[in-house]
Amino acid sequence: MSETGPRLRAQLDGIPTYKPGRPAPAGGVTTYKLSSNENPYPPLPGVMEQATAAARHFQRYPDLACTALTAELAERFGVPASHVATGTGSVGVAQQLLQATSGPGDEVIYAWRSFEAYPIIVQISGAASVRVPLTPGEFHDLDAMADAVTERTRLIFVCNPNNPTGTVARRAELERFLDKVPGDVLVVLDEAYREFNRDPEVPDGIEIYRDRPNVAVLRTFSKAYGLAGLRIGFAVAHEPVAEALRKTAVPFGVSQIAQDAAVASLRSEKELMVRVDALVKERDRVLGRLREQGWTVPETHANFVWLRLGDRTGEFAEACERAGVVVRPFAGEGVRVTIGENEANDLFLAAAEAFRS
Ligand SMILES: Cc1ncc(COP(=O)(O)O)c(C=O)c1O
Repeated sequence: MSETGPRLRAQLDGIPTYKPGRPAPAGGVTTYKLSSNENPYPPLPGVMEQATAAARHFQRYPDLACTALTAELAERFGVPASHVATGTGSVGVAQQLLQATSGPGDEVIYAWRSFEAYPIIVQISGAASVRVPLTPGEFHDLDAMADAVTERTRLIFVCNPNNPTGTVARRAELERFLDKVPGDVLVVLDEAYREFNRDPEVPDGIEIYRDRPNVAVLRTFSKAYGLAGLRIGFAVAHEPVAEALRKTAVPFGVSQIAQDAAVASLRSEKELMVRVDALVKERDRVLGRLREQGWTVPETHANFVWLRLGDRTGEFAEACERAGVVVRPFAGEGVRVTIGENEANDLFLAAAEAFRS
Protein backbone atom coordinates (compact mmCIF):
# COMPACT_ATOMS: atom_id res chain seq x y z
CA MET A 1 0.00 0.00 0.00
CA SER A 2 1.36 3.45 -0.92
CA GLU A 3 2.14 5.68 2.02
CA THR A 4 1.90 8.87 0.02
CA GLY A 5 -1.71 8.69 -1.14
CA PRO A 6 -3.01 9.86 -4.48
CA ARG A 7 -0.98 12.43 -6.37
CA LEU A 8 -2.92 15.71 -6.52
CA ARG A 9 -2.35 18.56 -8.98
CA ALA A 10 0.36 20.92 -7.76
CA GLN A 11 -1.84 23.87 -8.81
CA LEU A 12 -4.04 23.16 -5.82
CA ASP A 13 -1.23 23.88 -3.34
CA GLY A 14 -1.87 27.06 -1.42
CA ILE A 15 -5.40 27.66 -2.72
CA PRO A 16 -7.33 29.29 0.07
CA THR A 17 -10.71 27.58 0.46
CA TYR A 18 -13.63 29.91 -0.26
CA LYS A 19 -14.65 31.66 2.93
CA PRO A 20 -18.39 32.10 3.08
CA GLY A 21 -19.81 35.07 4.98
CA ARG A 22 -20.15 34.03 8.63
CA PRO A 23 -23.65 33.07 9.72
CA ALA A 24 -25.32 34.95 12.54
CA PRO A 25 -24.52 33.13 15.80
CA ALA A 26 -27.41 31.16 17.30
CA GLY A 27 -28.91 32.05 20.67
CA GLY A 28 -28.68 35.20 22.77
CA VAL A 29 -29.59 38.52 21.15
CA THR A 30 -31.07 38.62 17.64
CA THR A 31 -28.19 38.79 15.23
CA TYR A 32 -28.39 39.60 11.55
CA LYS A 33 -26.23 38.18 8.78
CA LEU A 34 -24.99 41.01 6.58
CA SER A 35 -21.97 39.10 5.34
CA SER A 36 -22.98 37.34 2.09
CA ASN A 37 -24.91 39.87 -0.03
CA GLU A 38 -28.03 37.79 0.28
CA ASN A 39 -31.57 39.04 -0.16
CA PRO A 40 -33.19 39.38 3.27
CA TYR A 41 -36.73 38.70 1.99
CA PRO A 42 -38.23 35.20 2.07
CA PRO A 43 -39.23 33.66 -1.29
CA LEU A 44 -42.36 35.10 -2.92
CA PRO A 45 -45.42 32.85 -2.50
CA GLY A 46 -45.64 31.85 -6.20
CA VAL A 47 -41.95 30.97 -6.27
CA MET A 48 -42.24 28.91 -3.11
CA GLU A 49 -45.18 26.96 -4.55
CA GLN A 50 -43.30 26.08 -7.72
CA ALA A 51 -40.26 25.02 -5.75
CA THR A 52 -42.23 22.82 -3.37
CA ALA A 53 -44.16 21.29 -6.30
CA ALA A 54 -40.84 20.42 -7.97
CA ALA A 55 -39.54 18.99 -4.70
CA ARG A 56 -42.22 16.29 -4.85
CA HIS A 57 -40.34 14.68 -7.73
CA PHE A 58 -36.74 14.78 -6.63
CA GLN A 59 -36.31 11.05 -7.07
CA ARG A 60 -35.99 12.01 -10.78
CA TYR A 61 -33.08 13.74 -12.48
CA PRO A 62 -33.80 17.31 -13.54
CA ASP A 63 -34.12 18.50 -17.15
CA LEU A 64 -30.48 18.40 -18.26
CA ALA A 65 -30.88 21.25 -20.75
CA CYS A 66 -32.94 23.51 -18.43
CA THR A 67 -35.27 23.84 -21.41
CA ALA A 68 -38.10 25.89 -19.92
CA LEU A 69 -35.79 28.31 -18.13
CA THR A 70 -33.54 28.72 -21.15
CA ALA A 71 -36.55 29.53 -23.34
CA GLU A 72 -37.85 32.02 -20.76
CA LEU A 73 -34.48 33.77 -20.50
CA ALA A 74 -34.00 33.83 -24.26
CA GLU A 75 -37.35 35.52 -24.72
CA ARG A 76 -36.85 37.94 -21.87
CA PHE A 77 -33.49 39.15 -23.18
CA GLY A 78 -34.26 38.81 -26.88
CA VAL A 79 -31.37 36.41 -27.53
CA PRO A 80 -31.27 32.98 -29.22
CA ALA A 81 -31.79 30.11 -26.79
CA SER A 82 -28.46 28.71 -28.00
CA HIS A 83 -26.76 31.77 -26.44
CA VAL A 84 -28.03 30.99 -22.93
CA ALA A 85 -26.16 28.57 -20.68
CA THR A 86 -27.25 27.82 -17.13
CA GLY A 87 -25.15 26.51 -14.26
CA THR A 88 -24.82 25.92 -10.55
CA GLY A 89 -24.73 29.56 -9.55
CA SER A 90 -22.89 32.14 -11.62
CA VAL A 91 -19.71 31.16 -9.83
CA GLY A 92 -20.19 27.67 -11.27
CA VAL A 93 -20.59 29.19 -14.74
CA ALA A 94 -17.49 31.37 -14.17
CA GLN A 95 -15.51 28.25 -13.32
CA GLN A 96 -16.77 26.58 -16.53
CA LEU A 97 -15.66 29.63 -18.54
CA LEU A 98 -12.18 29.19 -17.09
CA GLN A 99 -12.20 25.47 -17.84
CA ALA A 100 -13.15 26.31 -21.39
CA THR A 101 -10.47 28.96 -21.94
CA SER A 102 -7.59 28.85 -19.50
CA GLY A 103 -4.96 26.48 -18.20
CA PRO A 104 -1.28 26.32 -17.19
CA GLY A 105 0.76 28.99 -18.96
CA ASP A 106 -2.27 31.26 -19.50
CA GLU A 107 -3.19 34.47 -17.73
CA VAL A 108 -6.49 35.74 -16.40
CA ILE A 109 -6.90 39.43 -15.59
CA TYR A 110 -9.24 40.95 -13.03
CA ALA A 111 -9.42 44.02 -10.84
CA TRP A 112 -8.40 43.75 -7.22
CA ARG A 113 -10.07 43.83 -4.88
CA SER A 114 -12.98 42.15 -6.57
CA PHE A 115 -15.05 39.00 -6.10
CA GLU A 116 -13.10 36.77 -3.75
CA ALA A 117 -13.83 33.60 -5.76
CA TYR A 118 -11.84 34.82 -8.82
CA PRO A 119 -8.35 34.02 -7.45
CA ILE A 120 -9.53 30.62 -6.27
CA ILE A 121 -11.15 29.46 -9.49
CA VAL A 122 -8.30 30.87 -11.59
CA GLN A 123 -5.73 28.98 -9.52
CA ILE A 124 -7.73 25.76 -9.84
CA SER A 125 -7.66 26.19 -13.64
CA GLY A 126 -3.84 26.29 -13.52
CA ALA A 127 -3.69 29.73 -15.15
CA ALA A 128 -1.97 32.70 -13.49
CA SER A 129 -3.96 35.55 -11.96
CA VAL A 130 -3.04 39.07 -13.04
CA ARG A 131 -4.60 41.45 -10.54
CA VAL A 132 -4.93 45.08 -11.53
CA PRO A 133 -5.43 47.40 -8.53
CA LEU A 134 -8.62 49.44 -8.32
CA THR A 135 -8.16 53.21 -8.70
CA PRO A 136 -7.90 55.27 -5.48
CA GLY A 137 -11.65 55.92 -5.85
CA GLU A 138 -12.24 52.11 -5.82
CA PHE A 139 -13.16 51.86 -9.53
CA HIS A 140 -11.92 49.36 -12.11
CA ASP A 141 -8.83 50.79 -13.80
CA LEU A 142 -9.87 49.65 -17.26
CA ASP A 143 -6.97 51.36 -19.05
CA ALA A 144 -4.49 49.53 -16.81
CA MET A 145 -6.42 46.29 -17.36
CA ALA A 146 -6.18 46.72 -21.14
CA ASP A 147 -2.44 47.45 -20.77
CA ALA A 148 -2.05 44.23 -18.75
CA VAL A 149 -3.16 42.07 -21.71
CA THR A 150 -0.37 39.88 -23.10
CA GLU A 151 -0.22 37.03 -25.60
CA ARG A 152 -0.99 34.72 -22.70
CA THR A 153 -4.22 36.42 -21.65
CA ARG A 154 -7.24 34.19 -22.19
CA LEU A 155 -9.96 35.71 -20.02
CA ILE A 156 -10.72 39.02 -18.25
CA PHE A 157 -13.33 39.42 -15.52
CA VAL A 158 -15.03 42.81 -15.23
CA CYS A 159 -17.25 42.79 -12.15
CA ASN A 160 -19.93 45.44 -12.69
CA PRO A 161 -21.05 46.56 -10.09
CA ASN A 162 -17.88 45.46 -8.33
CA ASN A 163 -17.96 43.22 -5.29
CA PRO A 164 -17.02 44.39 -2.61
CA THR A 165 -16.84 48.10 -3.45
CA GLY A 166 -20.21 48.53 -5.23
CA THR A 167 -18.58 50.82 -7.79
CA VAL A 168 -19.50 50.67 -11.48
CA ALA A 169 -17.84 50.84 -14.88
CA ARG A 170 -19.72 53.17 -17.23
CA ARG A 171 -20.55 52.82 -20.90
CA ALA A 172 -17.88 54.99 -22.55
CA GLU A 173 -14.94 53.58 -20.59
CA LEU A 174 -16.19 50.02 -20.97
CA GLU A 175 -16.60 50.38 -24.73
CA ARG A 176 -13.13 51.94 -25.00
CA PHE A 177 -11.69 49.05 -23.00
CA LEU A 178 -13.48 46.42 -25.11
CA ASP A 179 -12.22 48.07 -28.30
CA LYS A 180 -8.65 47.57 -27.04
CA VAL A 181 -8.97 43.91 -25.99
CA PRO A 182 -7.99 41.42 -28.73
CA GLY A 183 -10.94 39.46 -30.14
CA ASP A 184 -9.51 36.11 -29.02
CA VAL A 185 -9.60 37.09 -25.33
CA LEU A 186 -12.90 36.35 -23.57
CA VAL A 187 -14.22 39.28 -21.53
CA VAL A 188 -16.67 38.19 -18.84
CA LEU A 189 -18.99 40.93 -17.61
CA ASP A 190 -20.00 39.63 -14.19
CA GLU A 191 -23.30 41.35 -13.48
CA ALA A 192 -24.35 39.53 -10.32
CA TYR A 193 -25.66 42.81 -8.85
CA ARG A 194 -27.03 44.35 -12.05
CA GLU A 195 -30.61 44.69 -10.75
CA PHE A 196 -29.48 47.04 -7.96
CA ASN A 197 -27.81 49.49 -10.34
CA ARG A 198 -29.53 52.86 -10.77
CA ASP A 199 -26.87 54.66 -12.80
CA PRO A 200 -28.18 55.08 -16.37
CA GLU A 201 -24.62 55.34 -17.66
CA VAL A 202 -23.94 51.74 -16.71
CA PRO A 203 -24.61 49.66 -19.80
CA ASP A 204 -26.58 46.45 -19.79
CA GLY A 205 -23.99 43.77 -20.61
CA ILE A 206 -26.54 41.94 -22.73
CA GLU A 207 -26.69 44.94 -25.07
CA ILE A 208 -22.88 45.01 -25.21
CA TYR A 209 -22.46 41.29 -25.93
CA ARG A 210 -24.70 41.39 -29.02
CA ASP A 211 -22.11 42.62 -31.48
CA ARG A 212 -19.03 41.48 -29.56
CA PRO A 213 -18.38 37.74 -29.95
CA ASN A 214 -15.67 37.81 -27.26
CA VAL A 215 -18.01 39.11 -24.54
CA ALA A 216 -19.96 36.84 -22.18
CA VAL A 217 -22.37 38.12 -19.54
CA LEU A 218 -22.84 36.40 -16.19
CA ARG A 219 -26.06 36.81 -14.24
CA THR A 220 -27.40 35.10 -11.14
CA PHE A 221 -30.66 34.32 -9.40
CA SER A 222 -28.86 34.48 -6.03
CA LYS A 223 -29.01 38.19 -5.25
CA ALA A 224 -31.99 40.28 -6.41
CA TYR A 225 -34.07 37.15 -7.09
CA GLY A 226 -33.33 35.68 -3.66
CA LEU A 227 -32.56 32.10 -4.74
CA ALA A 228 -29.00 31.89 -3.37
CA GLY A 229 -29.60 28.56 -1.67
CA LEU A 230 -30.85 26.92 -4.87
CA ARG A 231 -27.61 27.54 -6.81
CA ILE A 232 -28.60 28.82 -10.18
CA GLY A 233 -27.00 31.33 -12.52
CA PHE A 234 -26.46 31.71 -16.24
CA ALA A 235 -24.37 33.19 -18.99
CA VAL A 236 -25.41 34.88 -22.19
CA ALA A 237 -22.71 34.41 -24.80
CA HIS A 238 -22.25 33.74 -28.50
CA GLU A 239 -22.64 30.20 -29.74
CA PRO A 240 -19.05 28.89 -29.44
CA VAL A 241 -18.75 30.08 -25.85
CA ALA A 242 -22.26 28.97 -24.87
CA GLU A 243 -21.54 25.59 -26.50
CA ALA A 244 -18.30 25.30 -24.48
CA LEU A 245 -20.39 25.94 -21.36
CA ARG A 246 -22.71 23.09 -22.26
CA LYS A 247 -19.66 20.83 -22.69
CA THR A 248 -18.15 21.76 -19.33
CA ALA A 249 -21.38 21.62 -17.29
CA VAL A 250 -21.73 19.06 -14.53
CA PRO A 251 -24.51 16.82 -15.90
CA PHE A 252 -27.79 17.52 -14.10
CA GLY A 253 -26.05 20.10 -11.91
CA VAL A 254 -29.01 22.49 -11.78
CA SER A 255 -31.85 20.94 -9.80
CA GLN A 256 -35.45 20.96 -11.01
CA ILE A 257 -36.36 22.93 -7.90
CA ALA A 258 -33.91 25.64 -8.93
CA GLN A 259 -35.08 25.62 -12.56
CA ASP A 260 -38.76 25.90 -11.67
CA ALA A 261 -38.14 28.51 -8.97
CA ALA A 262 -36.13 30.57 -11.46
CA VAL A 263 -38.93 30.44 -14.06
CA ALA A 264 -41.47 31.41 -11.39
CA SER A 265 -39.19 34.27 -10.28
CA LEU A 266 -38.99 35.65 -13.79
CA ARG A 267 -42.78 35.51 -13.96
CA SER A 268 -43.07 37.27 -10.57
CA GLU A 269 -40.54 39.86 -11.55
CA LYS A 270 -42.77 42.85 -10.85
CA GLU A 271 -43.25 41.80 -7.21
CA LEU A 272 -39.57 40.93 -6.90
CA MET A 273 -38.51 44.28 -8.25
CA VAL A 274 -40.65 46.08 -5.66
CA ARG A 275 -38.43 44.39 -3.07
CA VAL A 276 -35.30 45.29 -5.00
CA ASP A 277 -36.44 48.93 -5.10
CA ALA A 278 -36.96 48.85 -1.34
CA LEU A 279 -33.42 47.50 -0.89
CA VAL A 280 -32.04 50.20 -3.18
CA LYS A 281 -33.85 52.83 -1.11
CA GLU A 282 -32.40 51.33 2.06
CA ARG A 283 -28.94 51.22 0.49
CA ASP A 284 -29.14 54.91 -0.36
CA ARG A 285 -30.34 55.69 3.16
CA VAL A 286 -27.43 53.71 4.69
CA LEU A 287 -24.91 55.31 2.33
CA GLY A 288 -26.23 58.81 3.13
CA ARG A 289 -26.18 58.23 6.88
CA LEU A 290 -22.65 56.81 6.81
CA ARG A 291 -21.44 59.85 4.92
CA GLU A 292 -23.21 62.12 7.43
CA GLN A 293 -21.33 60.27 10.15
CA GLY A 294 -18.11 61.24 8.36
CA TRP A 295 -17.20 57.97 6.65
CA THR A 296 -15.72 57.89 3.18
CA VAL A 297 -17.91 55.41 1.33
CA PRO A 298 -17.78 54.83 -2.43
CA GLU A 299 -21.01 55.36 -4.37
CA THR A 300 -22.51 51.87 -4.44
CA HIS A 301 -24.83 50.38 -7.04
CA ALA A 302 -25.06 46.95 -5.41
CA ASN A 303 -26.80 45.61 -2.30
CA PHE A 304 -23.86 46.40 -0.02
CA VAL A 305 -21.56 49.19 1.12
CA TRP A 306 -17.78 49.17 1.45
CA LEU A 307 -15.75 50.79 4.20
CA ARG A 308 -12.00 50.84 3.69
CA LEU A 309 -10.79 50.51 7.27
CA GLY A 310 -7.25 49.18 6.80
CA ASP A 311 -5.77 48.07 10.14
CA ARG A 312 -9.04 48.69 11.96
CA THR A 313 -11.01 46.20 9.87
CA GLY A 314 -11.05 43.39 12.44
CA GLU A 315 -11.86 45.74 15.31
CA PHE A 316 -14.76 47.26 13.38
CA ALA A 317 -16.18 43.84 12.42
CA GLU A 318 -16.06 42.78 16.07
CA ALA A 319 -17.83 45.97 17.15
CA CYS A 320 -20.58 45.28 14.62
CA GLU A 321 -20.95 41.73 15.85
CA ARG A 322 -21.29 42.89 19.44
CA ALA A 323 -24.06 45.18 18.19
CA GLY A 324 -25.88 42.27 16.53
CA VAL A 325 -24.75 42.34 12.89
CA VAL A 326 -22.27 40.01 11.23
CA VAL A 327 -20.42 41.86 8.44
CA ARG A 328 -17.74 40.71 6.02
CA PRO A 329 -14.19 41.78 6.92
CA PHE A 330 -11.30 41.49 4.45
CA ALA A 331 -8.31 41.56 6.79
CA GLY A 332 -6.22 44.70 6.58
CA GLU A 333 -8.43 46.17 3.84
CA GLY A 334 -12.00 46.87 4.74
CA VAL A 335 -15.48 45.69 5.55
CA ARG A 336 -18.36 44.91 3.21
CA VAL A 337 -21.81 45.23 4.69
CA THR A 338 -24.88 43.84 2.95
CA ILE A 339 -28.09 45.84 3.02
CA GLY A 340 -30.48 43.70 5.02
CA GLU A 341 -33.65 44.12 7.02
CA ASN A 342 -34.25 47.75 8.07
CA GLU A 343 -33.65 46.94 11.74
CA ALA A 344 -30.35 45.25 10.83
CA ASN A 345 -29.26 48.30 8.86
CA ASP A 346 -30.14 50.50 11.85
CA LEU A 347 -28.06 48.32 14.18
CA PHE A 348 -25.16 48.58 11.75
CA LEU A 349 -25.49 52.37 11.45
CA ALA A 350 -25.54 52.73 15.23
CA ALA A 351 -22.42 50.54 15.52
CA ALA A 352 -20.66 52.58 12.81
CA GLU A 353 -21.50 55.82 14.59
CA ALA A 354 -20.34 54.50 17.96
CA PHE A 355 -17.10 53.29 16.36
CA ARG A 356 -16.28 56.75 15.03
CA SER A 357 -16.70 58.35 18.39
C1 LIG B 1 -19.59 39.34 -8.34
C2 LIG B 1 -20.17 38.03 -8.06
N1 LIG B 1 -20.27 37.14 -9.03
C3 LIG B 1 -20.80 35.94 -8.82
C4 LIG B 1 -21.26 35.57 -7.58
C5 LIG B 1 -21.75 34.20 -7.41
O1 LIG B 1 -23.05 34.10 -7.15
P1 LIG B 1 -23.80 32.72 -7.36
O2 LIG B 1 -22.78 31.65 -7.59
O3 LIG B 1 -24.58 32.51 -6.13
O4 LIG B 1 -24.63 32.93 -8.59
C6 LIG B 1 -21.17 36.46 -6.52
C7 LIG B 1 -21.64 36.06 -5.18
O5 LIG B 1 -21.32 36.62 -4.18
C8 LIG B 1 -20.61 37.71 -6.75
O6 LIG B 1 -20.46 38.60 -5.77
